[in-house]
Amino acid sequence: MTDTTPPIYLGLEGVYAAESKICKVDGTAGKLWYRGYPIEALAANSNFEETAYLLLYGKLPKRPELDAFTGQLKSNRDIPDNVKSIIKTSVGKAPPIDILRTAVSALSAEDKELTDSSPEANMRKTIKLIAKTTTIVAAIGRMQSGKDYVKPDNNLSHADNFLYMLSGSRQDKKAVKLIDLMFILHAEHSTNASTFASMVTASTLADIYASVTTGIATLKGPLHGGADEAALKMMRSIGDPSNTETYINDALAGKQKIMGFGHRVYKTYDPRAKILKAWLTDIDNIAAGDQKRLTQITLIAEKLMIDKLGQSHGIWPNIDFFAGPLYTWAGIPPELFTPIFGAARTVGWCAHILEYWEHNKLFRPLEIYTGPLDLEYVPIDKRK
Ligand SMILES: CC(C)(COP(=O)(O)OP(=O)(O)OC[C@H]1O[C@@H](n2cnc3c(N)ncnc32)[C@H](O)[C@@H]1OP(=O)(O)O)[C@@H](O)C(=O)NCCC(=O)NCCS
Repeated sequence: MTDTTPPIYLGLEGVYAAESKICKVDGTAGKLWYRGYPIEALAANSNFEETAYLLLYGKLPKRPELDAFTGQLKSNRDIPDNVKSIIKTSVGKAPPIDILRTAVSALSAEDKELTDSSPEANMRKTIKLIAKTTTIVAAIGRMQSGKDYVKPDNNLSHADNFLYMLSGSRQDKKAVKLIDLMFILHAEHSTNASTFASMVTASTLADIYASVTTGIATLKGPLHGGADEAALKMMRSIGDPSNTETYINDALAGKQKIMGFGHRVYKTYDPRAKILKAWLTDIDNIAAGDQKRLTQITLIAEKLMIDKLGQSHGIWPNIDFFAGPLYTWAGIPPELFTPIFGAARTVGWCAHILEYWEHNKLFRPLEIYTGPLDLEYVPIDKRK
């Protein structure tokens, strides 16, 4: 590196790559808005369908608009046979997030509008993707436990129908409300790794299926969407609430990262995590046995971590810290946490892709080459 070397922003940290009207994250104040509406207001008053409409169209719908949008989502819920076969032949071999990625990629084969890149066709594809990713996740959950695909029930809301397709029966209202909330909170979060990755793919004018497939692939990693499952694994390995302090101390002494803590943008409490903490505290009051141990470990670990790294290092709980114990309470197996995140985030990915396409510019950053130049080519048999 010389004085004239341009600065490199590792991980593109602090780099602005686009303008957007979709989402604002204030990492210092710990605030989040979807299209200008505070996340707390949407969590308390909205539902997934309305929030998805808001993110995609930029305004809250009037009743007929929401009814029409919900109707389109419902009529697109079922998935084609080729996708069911992919799921059936992959369960037990590939992780569910990989199956989701492959299944979503395969959806393009059945879409006659694949090559129509008009805004209207892209919005129709977006609606199909939002509806079908959720069905795919439920189908993966069913088939990996050896059960048959459950057809969607169009009398049910998005969240209610998801739990119905997953379990084969109607679930109680509180579990449905929690899943609806999870879908709202996971629907969008500005240009994080998976959204940016899907925008990079979209910027080449590849289609929306290719772009969402990229998003799912990027979501998989434990530093991003995989953190919820990893955090639950950690809570499980702690075993008993009385072990929590020793576990956290040892982990930090060993320079181990605590999954579900820390964030590239939030240097204070993630507002989504605050909402989920209130839910977990509520569940803790009614939980017993294994669930009680889990909620207790989570709440104790949260307090210890904040004491050690909160104010001093700006490392606070993120959404993934509380998600696992809550999903567990709702009967969701850990391997489905990240796929559910992906199904919900399909809204955010598509909203960003559609917005970016309005003024598309191919993403193509530069790198500083630090290797040698003009080496002599030596034939293979003469190489030492
Ligand atoms: C999300 C994350 C990748 C953002 O981190 P980042 O901006 O790239 O910052 P870094 O990973 O470089 O971390 C900066 C410092 O904080 C520490 N740190 C960050 N997250 C930590 C965590 N969860 N537990 C313990 N230490 C942590 C790092 O070890 C590093 O310390 P060092 O400077 O002494 O090496 C990071 O906080 C993390 O890995 N968290 C756990 C995974 C997770 O929950 N992901 C979901 C995000 S929504």
